[in-house]
Amino acid sequence: MNPLPVSLLLLVLVVLSAQPSIVPVIHARQQQCRLESPQALLASPDDPFPSAGPSASNSTTNGTSQNTTAPAEVPFVYGTDKIRGVNLGGWFVLEPWITPSIFKNAGNDAIVDEFTLGTLTNSTYAQETLQQHWDTWMTEDDFQAISAAGLNHVRIPLGYWSVPMNDSVSVSPYTPGAWPYLLRALNWAKNNSLHVIVDLHGAPGSQNGFDNSGQRTSNPVWATDEGNVNRTIEILTFVAENIGGMIDVLELLNEPAGFTSNQWASAIRQFWGDAYSAVRDAVGSQIKIMIGDAFLGVDNWENFLTSPSAQGVIMDNVGCFL
Ligand SMILES: *[C@@H]1O[C@H](CO)[C@@H](O)[C@H](O)[C@H]1NC(C)=O
Ligand SMILES: *[C@@H]1O[C@H](CO)[C@@H](O)[C@H](O)[C@H]1NC(C)=O
Ligand SMILES: *[C@@H]1O[C@H](CO)[C@@H](O)[C@H](O)[C@H]1NC(C)=O
Ligand SMILES: *[C@@H]1O[C@H](CO)[C@@H](O)[C@H](O)[C@H]1NC(C)=O
Ligand SMILES: *[C@@H]1O[C@H](CO)[C@@H](O)[C@H](O)[C@H]1NC(C)=O
Ligand SMILES: *[C@@H]1O[C@H](CO)[C@@H](O)[C@H](O)[C@H]1NC(C)=O
Ligand SMILES: *[C@@H]1O[C@H](CO)[C@@H](O)[C@H](O)[C@H]1NC(C)=O
Repeated sequence: MNPLPVSLLLLVLVVLSAQPSIVPVIHARQQQCRLESPQALLASPDDPFPSAGPSASNSTTNGTSQNTTAPAEVPFVYGTDKIRGVNLGGWFVLEPWITPSIFKNAGNDAIVDEFTLGTLTNSTYAQETLQQHWDTWMTEDDFQAISAAGLNHVRIPLGYWSVPMNDSVSVSPYTPGAWPYLLRALNWAKNNSLHVIVDLHGAPGSQNGFDNSGQRTSNPVWATDEGNVNRTIEILTFVAENIGGMIDVLELLNEPAGFTSNQWASAIRQFWGDAYSAVRDAVGSQIKIMIGDAFLGVDNWENFLTSPSAQGVIMDNVGCFL
């Protein structure tokens, strides 16, 4: 079991619509969700690696050769049935407030996110630390407990660097290799009747400069370089093609910073539309596609990606409840 009770994990607050997009209810905030006093958590005797557990690395597949069938058998009617879910944060994208011990153990205050873990530790250390974390932070027991608690969804944040694109573009300084653990998690979800939202949480260049995008920076460049946006769409296409049959919802991008400038806002709007089309082309209508209000308020998205030009779109609107 992992050290944080499920109740401490950040809840996913999604408002769902069956067909066209929707009217969410919670007002967005421009800052990142954090614990009020991370120090209190730092002081607790958290040990993210209570047992090394069996090495999973070779017992799971890449997924590039795996196209499994339908997700959880329990049918779920989005827009009608109530989503009760939990976000499995801090697993495939580190966030210091969720896994303080990883950052404390790294022994360098300048390591504040997965990017700096990659730049300021050696690759052996980063690889071993992350591999052990991926293998142990969530276990099938957790999935069973989530299901037994009456929840019906998990949301799994994913960094772009974990998607094994078949090309030569380096993801350095990030550490690739989490994909097999994601696949294992999807199987756990299915086995425990949990529906899955996979959420692209970190995009090339950082979509918001938050540590939960992989890189804490005052100068995120995702939207200022069209190459980043294009690559994000290629990554989403790969995800849809390779695991579209195992997930219920693909969230195109977490919390892009639409408040940055008009250029960002318009790049995000263009991206939602382009990525929607790419994912639909890749995987058809079998999954729902989630977008976010990009901190611009849901009123900004009225009649955006609605029926009949778009189907099965969900709006994510985030609030912090801690
Ligand atoms: C996984 O397999 C590779 C290649 O067969 C091997 O080099 C590596 O040691 C194995 N890793 C583990 C953790 O068993
Ligand atoms: C995983 O991907 C690597 C690189 O593409 C490939 O060499 C290897 O055979 C794959 N392993 C499995 C189990 O598919
Ligand atoms: C998975 O299925 C998709 C769509 O049917 C296909 O495009 C893709 O090539 C498949 N992936 C593999 C690795 O078989
Ligand atoms: C990598 O960093 C770890 C932790 O600081 C250290 O113990 C280890 O010797 C380093 N390895 C190399 C090859 O530098
Ligand atoms: C990856 O690319 C290589 C070379 O372009 C190709 O031979 C191989 O089939 C590709 N693998 C997958 C899983 O698409
Ligand atoms: C599936 O879930 C059941 C019940 O939670 C568990 O006992 C079993 O070990 C799981 N099977 C696999 C293959 O994960
Ligand atoms: C991004 O993709 C668009 C549409 O395919 C293309 O016109 C544009 O040249 C691409 N930009 C870059 C920088 O790759």
